[in-house]
Amino acid sequence: MFFQQFYTIKDLRAWSRKEPSLGVVGFPVKHSASPPMQNAALEQFAEFKDWRYFRFEIEDKDLKEALRIFGEKNFIGLNLTVPHKVMAYHMIDQRDESSETVQAANTLLFDWPGSGSLPEGYSTDGYGLLKGLETDLSFDPQGKTVLLLGAGGAGQTAAITLEKQGAEVLWHNRTPQKVAALIPGLGLENTYMVNPGQIAWEQIDLVVNSTSAGLGEKPVSPLDFGTVSGHKESLCAYDMLYGKDKTAFISGAESLGIHAAGGLSMLLHQGAKAFEIWTKKQAPLEVMGEALKKAIYGIK
Ligand code: ATR
Repeated sequence: MFFQQFYTIKDLRAWSRKEPSLGVVGFPVKHSASPPMQNAALEQFAEFKDWRYFRFEIEDKDLKEALRIFGEKNFIGLNLTVPHKVMAYHMIDQRDESSETVQAANTLLFDWPGSGSLPEGYSTDGYGLLKGLETDLSFDPQGKTVLLLGAGGAGQTAAITLEKQGAEVLWHNRTPQKVAALIPGLGLENTYMVNPGQIAWEQIDLVVNSTSAGLGEKPVSPLDFGTVSGHKESLCAYDMLYGKDKTAFISGAESLGIHAAGGLSMLLHQGAKAFEIWTKKQAPLEVMGEALKKAIYGIK
């Protein structure tokens, strides 16, 4: 989709930029649309004219060293993406409630840039998901029943966030044992394991895809929409994935007339919250949204 410039641990070791920096750290990371979104936001503020946001492709084995170096150089903050969110959470000792709740960190803030001290951890993914559901689908989880597909990092954040917001979560994963272990492991009390064959569709208000089934060479929908029947007219669907093309999950939902939206809004809102944590300014949402669309769809 995008093949953009990124830096490695070697580049970081030799990092000589003196001006304030930010970045996204992942493996792989070249697909990340965060740099155009965050740099467009920074450009809106004269006081951040020297700030820049970069991509860093860092392997698991180098993450600890990388965090130390980021702390020694003039880095204001970072975003973490797959596979580092949980690992980084365990490498820091200061986390705010958003991070403690999902036991992962997607945003780090260096309180004393250049001092070598460890950053504080936050998670803005749950916030991003809730804002995405609100803006795209006018959906408020309170008192609703949500069918959640997938139990990786994204699925765990969704289960915890949706239950905390007052939803009953019916959770399905291709490998059911994962859900069976995660429900008690995460201390979830209003989340239940389901098999696709057992779903009483008339009870479901929202179906969320957190799986990566729509990625790769042969993208598929994790749900066979041909099996969906008797659902509420108000049933809606949200795909945490985003991409240039409509996902199989969204196409499947739309073929039944189900109101569906993709994860671009989640990406935007998690990024906006991270921007506010780093800069203490209100994020310029419209500019960030335009930059994201341009990066992903190649249009303005
Ligand atoms: P992330 O951290 O981004 O959530 P992940 O930890 O790799 O990514 O999790 C991917 C999720 O997508 C898992 O729930 C995975 O199911 P398994 O636990 O059975 O592996 C799910 N997944 C991936 N490909 C899938 C497919 N083709 N059909 C259904 N689920 C799929």
